Amino acid sequence: MRLQGKVAIVTGGGSGIGRGIVLAMAREGADVAIPDIQVVNAEKVAQEVQALGRKAFALKTDVTSAADVKTMIDRTRDTLGKIDILVNNAGMASPPGMPFTNNTEEDWDRVYAVNVKSIFLTCKAIAPYLLERKAGRIVNIASIAGPISALTMPPYSVSKMSVITFTRIVAKELAPHGITVNAICPGVLWTPFWENLAAHLAKTNPAFAGMTARQVFDKRVTDIVPMKREQHPEDIGWTAVFLASEEARNITGQAINVDGGCVMQ
Ligand SMILES: NC(=O)c1ccc[n+]([C@@H]2O[C@H](COP(=O)([O-])OP(=O)(O)OC[C@H]3O[C@@H](n4cnc5c(N)ncnc54)[C@H](O)[C@@H]3O)[C@@H](O)[C@H]2O)c1
Repeated sequence: MRLQGKVAIVTGGGSGIGRGIVLAMAREGADVAIPDIQVVNAEKVAQEVQALGRKAFALKTDVTSAADVKTMIDRTRDTLGKIDILVNNAGMASPPGMPFTNNTEEDWDRVYAVNVKSIFLTCKAIAPYLLERKAGRIVNIASIAGPISALTMPPYSVSKMSVITFTRIVAKELAPHGITVNAICPGVLWTPFWENLAAHLAKTNPAFAGMTARQVFDKRVTDIVPMKREQHPEDIGWTAVFLASEEARNITGQAINVDGGCVMQ
């Protein structure tokens, strides 16, 4: 029960990795707000949290909207009493590029708004509150696609490197006030995100012709993960719990790879 009595916000908590983080935090005693653009999924996850004996609520939120983000902060404080932890997990893949000239201006704008601008908006909205309390934990979900400079998804790869850089900037600024800010870089996980990506690659990339989406994914795991196994949402959940816990009080400005060894620095 490392998060007993804590309140967390997990954006995009209705699916995949976000759901894994929500459930890991609830199992450790946290109450959780689940803002997600797909609110029906978030409602189901809120029910799973309530079944664990914790409080939770879902909220239809577009993290690219400053107004929605303000409502998310206000509603969490009103409903759950306070905010200790913010996990910026909501994100999207970009349509595969390679060569990069295949991507459009719209691809870049949308991915930047969802993956990067959103984190600026949430951090800006919550900072005055955390500064007043002189406490708080922010965990941003980046990706190994940032450090590996993924040829297959240029806008996505650049957006995730930006998440790491912004994490360090906010960490430096908030460090003197007792607030930690870290990133997690997940490796390769079979969530709707990768399912859609693999289905697209199977249809469009001759290298994967005749393969199912799951076979494309398995090949990716074998090709790039030294431990030869995929990662799971609970792997990211456990790391997020650690970063939000007292044990991590002196860790800030880091980007932790949870990727079976894909990136070794
Ligand atoms: N799956 C992987 O292999 C992998 C690897 C590295 C990083 N990531 C990152 O992990 C995070 C979660 O990905 P996932 O694999 O669970 O994908 P997912 O598609 O299962 O979940 C993404 C969630 O974000 C929500 N979301 C999307 N846009 C939103 C918006 N504008 N406002 C609010 N919510 C929004 C979706 O509704 C969904 O619930 C993303 O940031 C992704 O980039 C995933």
